[in-house]
Amino acid sequence: MPRQLFVTTALPYANGHFHIGHIMEYIQADIWVRFQRMQGHQVHFVGADDAHGAPIMIAAEKVGKTPQQFVADIAAGRKPYLDGFHISFDHWSSTDSPENHELAQSIYLALKAQGLIDVRPIEQFFDPDKGMFLADRFIKGECPKCGAKDQYGDSCEVCGAVYAPTELKHPYSALSGATPVLKTSDHHFFKLSDPRCFEFLQQWTQDGKLQPAVSKKIKEWFTKDENGEGGLGDWDISRDAPYFGIEIPDAPGKYFYVWLDAPIGYLASLKGYFAAGGPKARHGEARSFDEFMADPAVEQVHFIGKDITYFHTLFWPAMLKFSGRKLPNQVNVHGFMTVNNGEKMSKSRGTGLDPLKYLSIGMNPEWLRYYIAAKLNANVEDIDFNKDDFTARVNSDLVGKFVNIASRAAGFIAKRFAGQLTAAVGEEGRALLATLQAGRQGISALYEARELGKVLREIMLLADRVNEYVDANKPWELAKLEGQDARLQEVCTVCIEAFRLLSIYLKPVLPSVVAQVEAFLKVAPMSFADADRLLGAHTIGVYQHLMQRVDPKMLDALFEPPAPPAAEAPKAGGEKAAAPVPAEGDACGSGLPGGEAVAPTIAIDDFVKVDLRIARIVNAEHVEGSTKLLRLTLDVGEGCDPQGRPKTRNVFSGIKEAYQPEQLIGKLTVLVANLAPRKMKFGVSEGMVLAASHADEKANPGVYVLEPFPGAEPGMRIR
Ligand code: MSP
Ligand code: ZN
Repeated sequence: MPRQLFVTTALPYANGHFHIGHIMEYIQADIWVRFQRMQGHQVHFVGADDAHGAPIMIAAEKVGKTPQQFVADIAAGRKPYLDGFHISFDHWSSTDSPENHELAQSIYLALKAQGLIDVRPIEQFFDPDKGMFLADRFIKGECPKCGAKDQYGDSCEVCGAVYAPTELKHPYSALSGATPVLKTSDHHFFKLSDPRCFEFLQQWTQDGKLQPAVSKKIKEWFTKDENGEGGLGDWDISRDAPYFGIEIPDAPGKYFYVWLDAPIGYLASLKGYFAAGGPKARHGEARSFDEFMADPAVEQVHFIGKDITYFHTLFWPAMLKFSGRKLPNQVNVHGFMTVNNGEKMSKSRGTGLDPLKYLSIGMNPEWLRYYIAAKLNANVEDIDFNKDDFTARVNSDLVGKFVNIASRAAGFIAKRFAGQLTAAVGEEGRALLATLQAGRQGISALYEARELGKVLREIMLLADRVNEYVDANKPWELAKLEGQDARLQEVCTVCIEAFRLLSIYLKPVLPSVVAQVEAFLKVAPMSFADADRLLGAHTIGVYQHLMQRVDPKMLDALFEPPAPPAAEAPKAGGEKAAAPVPAEGDACGSGLPGGEAVAPTIAIDDFVKVDLRIARIVNAEHVEGSTKLLRLTLDVGEGCDPQGRPKTRNVFSGIKEAYQPEQLIGKLTVLVANLAPRKMKFGVSEGMVLAASHADEKANPGVYVLEPFPGAEPGMRIR
């Protein structure tokens, strides 16, 4: 009976493009999935964007988009990565899908019916300007231990202290700069401390299905320390409006915390795949999503990174268990990918290894698949991308040992035997091919266990045997000898047969190269079972080179930092800025930054004539009769008028198309404070607000008002 597998990778936050860490996870899972398909099993491999949460809501607001539009734009950029690295998802969805709204609410209600939801008040920092509660990462202030400024609400990057946001000195909101106030509100909790949850998880996490290191780590999480701290606490699963998420049934203004609905997105994506008819079309699946998930034979398999183990091995199985659903059969945790000796990788920005740049400079995606596979095992270990190691493994193993076998034999078969192989391969040849065929079981077991490094080592050992055979039998010499045609055909046939077997074993890692191999051999798509037979007297096609070697120059190009902006500001003191102007039409664009040449050089004295000040936008409104202008009221820290009211300035700004007034109110910006007042149709403008735009606004629309880093105050001069 074929297995039925429902396989997922972690759902990436939709606040940025994929980085190499994501691609690494997808390659690992994709290899496993392709292996299962080649074993004749039925796999549904799904992913989705993790759309919800405060960071995405705020990021969207910053660029003037709705969160829905923001995540849709990110989703629209996913395809080149997935196609580019041959990641074979069957379906891709979003956690903001109707399926996920419905499933999250029904799972929540099931937990509530079990008595596992509790509501209690908690006190939290609230931003009075923004009218919202602040997550720890949006609160900053001085470290209570060492006094370092601008530290986040949970820990100090200077001294390493860990604290509650309420302990910060001079806290401020990273969103508005306002001083947060403490405010109470009701939160919903999932009662993980309930003995039913505790007993279930203790058993489920320790019964041998998880990786040993993972089970061990979880054991620590269960244990309270000598102060009674730690252990399984209740989980706060609600957030107050405004929040981009799924509303909690019967609790107006309350939303599920993003991590509640995120894993439910796995089920929702699969449900969407069923709704789209995918399983029926692909596998003749007659059942509905619910029937499929009710089948105990269906295996649910997750691939995730180590940082999200807690969510997937405690919260997620508990949610499933107590809402009466299928439990994960595997939660496969991998380590982190680092680049060039552990260069620090930011979760949102990634590293210097940009996956799209990798593809755009013509590097072969299967080199990376091969390299990552060679480094992976079933443990939770970090792996490092190292330039020299990458070049060596691809050039000497993948190309040198595997690809070369075909190129050494194929020419003779084509030219001398019209593409015809022979069934008579001789004793030595038969023995070699039998050795290769005998490798199938071991290699399959290693794939199954996700021991990908060992898989490739095993295959390369077999390739070594084949190359020894070639070196011992020297087809290039046989080709020169009279009367050795039969030997030559035999030796070259053994090479091609061996190459075919190795190709079968490598196919999960190198799907595109092996598709080319299938075309060259003139065979149907190969599965693992095909390794049990040989081609015999079969006619093959013409060999075309399958893969180039890595040129180390490509790696230099890959890690070359992005070119500095062409319009470098003149250095203080009036030195001439040496702005590099790239040639027209090269990869760096036209050489006209933002569509226009940099203005003639000025001296610092010219610059200081312009008085730039920080201003707070205290009000913004539409201007009656104007399609372009907004009227801004600005506080530039200029004290009070004789009546004791804060002095403000009135400035008209041509940014109506780009911003709603509400987006601007409360924000800081930059004002040209000594520009001569200008009388306009609608009143006098007392200065000019700075904004960026492209010279050709028609072709490149968009106006972006400048905003200083947090900490700047109205009235401060910009120099
Ligand atoms: N949205 C959550 C996951 C929700 S799953 C229901 C999230 N997203 S993420 O974009 O930050 O990470 C997605 C996956 O990429 C996670 O499995 C994470 O561990 C993995 N990686 C992120 N950085 C990584 C590396 N540097 N290396 C390998 N994997 C890494 O977490
Ligand atoms: Zn500190």
